[in-house]
Amino acid sequence: MSATPETLTLEIKDLLHKLDALLVAHFYQRDEIVALAHLCGDSLELSRKASQSPKNLIVFCGVAFMGQSVKVLAPQKRVIMPKMACCSMARMIDSEYFDKSIATLQGYGIAKEEIFPITYINSNADVKAKVAKMGGLVCTSANAKKIFDYAKSQGKKIFFLPDKCLGQNLAIADNKKSCVLGSASKEEILASDVICYDGFCSVHQLFSINDVEFYRQKYPGIKVVVHPECDPSVVGVADFVGSTSQIIAYVQSLPLEQKVVVGTEFNLVNRLRPKLNGVSTTFVLSATKPECPTMNETALQDVLDCLRAYEDNMPINEVLLDSDTQHWAKIALDRMLELS
Ligand code: 13P
Ligand code: SF4
Repeated sequence: MSATPETLTLEIKDLLHKLDALLVAHFYQRDEIVALAHLCGDSLELSRKASQSPKNLIVFCGVAFMGQSVKVLAPQKRVIMPKMACCSMARMIDSEYFDKSIATLQGYGIAKEEIFPITYINSNADVKAKVAKMGGLVCTSANAKKIFDYAKSQGKKIFFLPDKCLGQNLAIADNKKSCVLGSASKEEILASDVICYDGFCSVHQLFSINDVEFYRQKYPGIKVVVHPECDPSVVGVADFVGSTSQIIAYVQSLPLEQKVVVGTEFNLVNRLRPKLNGVSTTFVLSATKPECPTMNETALQDVLDCLRAYEDNMPINEVLLDSDTQHWAKIALDRMLELS
């Protein structure tokens, strides 16, 4: 007989207690995982709070760069992930592509010393380490503006990676000239204040200006709320732009009669608000269900399997880093935390 969600939940709770572990989940995780988690949050909150927790064992339900960030910030902790699922955007750059990008910019006559790199937290630790070695740092969607302002004060060209949308959105909001490496000409690159790497989120790419127009026509007065990983054309017409935590706080501050359409991952939007008299006033900004495939990989059975393996002293999906990557990635994250 296969286990029911109830029996899985009970076993997981027992093992979490026995192993004195903290169960952490990003907001995009499935409902049953979020319901069980001791700590839920956006990337900034999770990296900060999980690394500062008194618990030594962290069970991280999310994507790989998130679990890695906790390990980087708190190397003494054991971090295990029920699924070592990779954010597709984070996979778009590695340390080799980073070096190649810097070499391309140097080929255009921009000296390494003139480049200030910022990596979005949605990148692997090796990339964060490379960024730190060049004097740069990390940002998340929650603190991007603050980090961007700090980067500007360095008086260099900003190389923003890997998300071209977040990079362009920051530049546009600040009236700075930006371009995307790979599609921009040498002249455009030399004239830009912000050069973005050509990465993107496949989920947030789903939302379009046509979707915004559709909802505004159908429900005049509706509020359009989006994540800054959306295309600049969508962000430019939204009523509110923010990280996952900021989206939740904003939407939940509105009266339930206020219709809202949200451009971010489905699981988060689906549990945002109750219905009003049996009718939903909260919509998803896409005809296609915007599910993050890797975030959705983690199931209750995976959490249980991971805990059992740890208990048996045969941990699976433990986050481990070499000491150089650990050291430098921590510098990049610490610089961010000092500013946020
Ligand atoms: P937040 O930091 O806003 O939670 O975003 C993480 C993410 O991966 C969004 O796609
Ligand atoms: Fe990565 Fe996009 Fe999934 Fe966020 S929603 S974890 S950026 S693939």
